[in-house]
Amino acid sequence: MRSSIIVVASLTFLLTCGISNSVIFKMTNVVCTSHNKSWVRVNLCRLKAISRSKVVFNFNATLLYPTSDIRVTYRLFKKESGYKPWLINVEIDSCRFLRKPYDFMGVMIYNFFRNFTNVNHTCPLSGDLIIKNMYLTTEPFKGLPWPSGDYLFAMNWKFFRKPQFDTNVSFQFIENLL
Ligand SMILES: *[C@@H]1O[C@H](CO)[C@@H](O)[C@H](O)[C@H]1NC(C)=O
Ligand SMILES: *[C@@H]1O[C@H](CO)[C@@H](O)[C@H](O)[C@H]1NC(C)=O
Ligand SMILES: *[C@@H]1O[C@H](CO)[C@@H](O)[C@H](O)[C@H]1NC(C)=O
Ligand SMILES: *[C@@H]1O[C@H](CO)[C@@H](O)[C@H](O)[C@H]1NC(C)=O
Ligand SMILES: *[C@@H]1O[C@H](CO)[C@@H](O)[C@H](O)[C@H]1NC(C)=O
Repeated sequence: MRSSIIVVASLTFLLTCGISNSVIFKMTNVVCTSHNKSWVRVNLCRLKAISRSKVVFNFNATLLYPTSDIRVTYRLFKKESGYKPWLINVEIDSCRFLRKPYDFMGVMIYNFFRNFTNVNHTCPLSGDLIIKNMYLTTEPFKGLPWPSGDYLFAMNWKFFRKPQFDTNVSFQFIENLL
């Protein structure tokens, strides 16, 4: 009796540990570039490793003039002997989206950084756009199956349909199946 309780307890412990440690989901690189420095100045675009499995992203860019027409093209690539286009290639009208989220992919993407940013109000956007200590969690996937691998998530930001800046985030998703 006693030993079976111990067995159950250690199994539960092992499984719980297994589950909570079974996914590595972290950013591996970021590149941010302004295409129009008289409008967008990138002050900070940096990853910081907090632990082996946790990496945080800090971003700070200044919009020198307000804008009320923002479109973001999101493209996801998966690394398979070079980066191959994968699953996501959408353009989101961000000002419309900030008024009322309208796109399933857009909602998923926004959920990754909504808790970490001051971009949580409607357009016009101006001044400093901040992302502070953002890290990845699997929560926004909401049960969507996600294959292990290395990915590049490329975001191209346009104001009035002209490219203003890029934010490219590479990340790794590894699920250790027990
Ligand atoms: C971001 O990635 C895309 C797709 O590979 C590429 O076309 C673009 O030049 C990259 N931008 C930067 C700033 O690296
Ligand atoms: C670059 O920014 C300036 C504002 O400083 C704006 O007038 C101009 O249209 C922008 N250029 C492009 C190509 O969007
Ligand atoms: C963002 O960068 C600007 C310009 O360097 C700076 O004045 C501002 O304090 C920064 N904001 C945060 C929250 O770090
Ligand atoms: C965002 O914050 C809320 C409230 O603290 C939390 O419930 C939610 O899990 C967070 N979402 C993400 C994607 O981190
Ligand atoms: C928006 O973000 C700012 C800065 O992080 C925060 O102080 C404010 O409470 C947020 N507002 C909403 C409506 O979430």
